[in-house]
Amino acid sequence: MNQRGAGEFRKSVENPERPGRQTLRATRTLMVAIAAGFVFTVSAGVAAGQSGPPAWAYGFTAPNGPLPKSGSESLPMEDPTPKHLAGSKSSFTLAQIWDVFGPADWYPEDHPPMPEIVAHGHKPNVNACGFCHYPNGKGRSENTSVAGLPYEYFVKTIGDFKSGARKTADSRRLNANVMNTFAAGMTDEDVKAAAKYFGAMKWTPWIRVVEAGTVPKIGNRGHMFFALPGSETEPIGDRIIEIPEDTDLTTVVRDDHSGFIAYAPVGSVKKGEALVTTGGGGKTIPCGACHGDKLQGMGAVPGIAGRSPSYLVRQMYDMQQGFRTGVGTELMKPVVERLTQDDMLAIAAYTSSRVP
Ligand code: HEC
Ligand code: HEC
Repeated sequence: MNQRGAGEFRKSVENPERPGRQTLRATRTLMVAIAAGFVFTVSAGVAAGQSGPPAWAYGFTAPNGPLPKSGSESLPMEDPTPKHLAGSKSSFTLAQIWDVFGPADWYPEDHPPMPEIVAHGHKPNVNACGFCHYPNGKGRSENTSVAGLPYEYFVKTIGDFKSGARKTADSRRLNANVMNTFAAGMTDEDVKAAAKYFGAMKWTPWIRVVEAGTVPKIGNRGHMFFALPGSETEPIGDRIIEIPEDTDLTTVVRDDHSGFIAYAPVGSVKKGEALVTTGGGGKTIPCGACHGDKLQGMGAVPGIAGRSPSYLVRQMYDMQQGFRTGVGTELMKPVVERLTQDDMLAIAAYTSSRVP
């Protein structure tokens, strides 16, 4: 779907005179649900589906809120003092750490030499992949992990970003839109080098799923949530809230050894487990058949265990609503078709809690 196509699609969804795809799908889902005797749970989901993308999964605190400040905006970038990290022999200034064409590589011994595209990108319009996905490919909660992705899938999905088959449902999301620009600016050699480099990286635990009724009061920078200083809390609501384990290590010095906590509503992991392993009585298809019995990925199908839950929900929603299409994506259509936003949340809470 190209830019214009996406805009028109959105208009048709918003126009109450012309029932959009969401309404038609909702009606169909409701009919299936009535037949199956699940009216109450599903009709609640229909209402949620009509309210648009789940803001939390796209890095917003409200559906129509303003863009958050960027990650570097509130940092003293001119500060010449080198920063150090326990466990790293290197030191970098803030300007070096936040250099999108050559970000800090704190632990070069963790990985083979980075290909040029991963370490530096291409000036002026392809940022170093290592900036957002980190040199080890584990990624930040506002982006995603790319470590351990199957080579074939990696190459194909970059092609989908390039052709516009892969877009984001919330057009305010700057860091997802730029993936389309970066993919367009990569040569075939760049794509192969990045796919080989990240694909060879072993996936190890990086996100800790914790069920909770309340979460620390959150701030938002560059689509990333983090705990505000102090001890204030807020109700979790129908959201998964991913925050860095250590705010400064992630939001200031970009330490790629410091991972994330994902707070999920109480009971969501168990609910997700039922959907993932049994399909929830025909609501979806058990994931292991294609993603592997430990959800670790199989053949050209990417792993979904232990990955960022907000990323996984964005992808399920984007695929359901036609913002992410493409050859491989066809296989996911019957998987996501009847899922409500609550189902997607529960599924992601479970899959993210799995160790591949
Ligand atoms: C400005 C931050 C940023 C940079 C730099 C960046 N990416 Fe991404 N990338 C993202 C975001 C955000 C997503 C997830 C898109 C979404 O949320 O829908 C993504 C997704 C991906 C995916 C899809 C992962 C999956 O599981 O399907 C691949 C592959 C990828 N990026 C490769 C690259 C490569 C290669 C480079 C270097 C040329 C790069 N990225 C640079 C932000 C970035
Ligand atoms: C019939 C095979 C099949 C089944 C069953 C299946 N998937 Fe997938 N899934 C795929 C394929 C193929 C892709 C890659 C799509 C693409 O290339 O765009 C994928 C991609 C995904 C992605 C995006 C991953 C990424 O890195 O961007 C998510 C999330 C996902 N699946 C979740 C699930 C969940 C959750 C289930 C079970 C409820 C499931 N899938 C069941 C085949 C399947």
